[in-house]
Amino acid sequence: MTVARTEPLRTRAVEGLPADFVWGAATSAYQIEGAVAEDGRTPSIWDTFSHTPGAVANGDHGDAACDHYHRMPEDVALLADLGLDAYRFSLSWPRIQPGGKGPANARGLAFYDRLVDELLARDITPWVTLYHWDLPQELEDEGGWPVRDTAHRFAEYAGIAADALGDRVTHWITLNEPYCSAMLGYYVGVHAPGRRHFPDFTKAAHHLLLGHGLAAEQVRARAARPAEVGITVNPVVAQPFSDAPEDVEAARRADALGTRLYLDPLVHGRYPEDLLADLAPHRAEPPVQDGDLRTIAAPLDFLGVNYYFRDVVRPGDEPRGYRSVPQTDRPSTAMPWEIYPQGLTDLLVRISREYPGLPLYITENGAAFDDTRAAVDATGQIQDPERIAFLAEHLQAIGRARGAGADVRGYFCWSLMDNFEWAYGYAKRFGLVHVDYATQRRTPKASAEWLRDTAAACRQQ
Ligand code: FCB
Repeated sequence: MTVARTEPLRTRAVEGLPADFVWGAATSAYQIEGAVAEDGRTPSIWDTFSHTPGAVANGDHGDAACDHYHRMPEDVALLADLGLDAYRFSLSWPRIQPGGKGPANARGLAFYDRLVDELLARDITPWVTLYHWDLPQELEDEGGWPVRDTAHRFAEYAGIAADALGDRVTHWITLNEPYCSAMLGYYVGVHAPGRRHFPDFTKAAHHLLLGHGLAAEQVRARAARPAEVGITVNPVVAQPFSDAPEDVEAARRADALGTRLYLDPLVHGRYPEDLLADLAPHRAEPPVQDGDLRTIAAPLDFLGVNYYFRDVVRPGDEPRGYRSVPQTDRPSTAMPWEIYPQGLTDLLVRISREYPGLPLYITENGAAFDDTRAAVDATGQIQDPERIAFLAEHLQAIGRARGAGADVRGYFCWSLMDNFEWAYGYAKRFGLVHVDYATQRRTPKASAEWLRDTAAACRQQ
């Protein structure tokens, strides 16, 4: 059910968000850049996957995307108009190190060099994500993330990036959502590379985490300026369908696979016992070697948290042991993902208790709605009251979490502009700025102005 909410929302400070809260927007390379064959870039698994018939809605792919590669200064100007403090973007590995091995590609690096300079010239802090799902295809051909060597290849690439940008970039995120790379890419198969083998999923998860740890070492050692290094996770906010023991058990299974599989090794240096017991009958234990967990658990400077919706679960088939129950009678976005802001409060409070001591940043949160240029009003904006309501409710949820002791320091809205939404293609629009893909014209939505004014109000309190 999609609910139209049209009541006017006054722009004012959000309770609980301090004057020094970091306000940003996020994007990722494959979703916006286009120019997939330019300046030496080679294909990633998403180029291959999106050109596989039936893999992506409507046959969409990222060949042109938002053409950000050619329109970058215009897009940075949009960020500046939004008055944001920070911009989270990702580097395309096959642009920087084509094929995932060998020397750096100077022409590919030059693009990010210009982007970083452009941001700094406008007083916007770059937050670089090293890996937002675009593994060089050659590395997938050699086995992909289920193969240990991919973690070492990733660290080498991270070192190249740190050498080139570490004199100006101070905020680094190694991986975006390893859950999605591993689970959706190697078991569910709805994301690149589209494989469906459960033990490959846990191997991939372990090597992603190992790659994170090795890459963090490289960035810390090689960036010319002191680097804050973190990782972005998207914990599953699993809730049992009922109080029945089997539903509670299903929620435990979902939580183990979706949340603790990542956060326990990252923060506590061990995989959860109950998860290992669940995996054993499927011969899917993570392939841990001596020293791996120490590498994975090197202290984080911050934790990035992405949150969109909760997952209400019941028992399901092995090997996962749970299934999601769509909340069809509840308000939802166009995905359709349930709108459940309280889940964000609960998640942040839980993380601050079970994984204490980490500064937290919301590195993604936002909503797709069916914005069309038909909704352009006299002010030239696209009216998107549903998105404004969504953002307001989630920012309030963060304020409540802070009130309960969670050390949340910033918020990056997904996304700066409409873009290639993975398996959903271009049909789902998450942007603060509308993109007309036929003309590449950008039109701010009302939510863009609302976010700018809300940030300003918070800074002034
Ligand atoms: C997240 C991804 C991001 C975007 C949003 C909607 O899982 O990190 O790229 O697609 O979902």
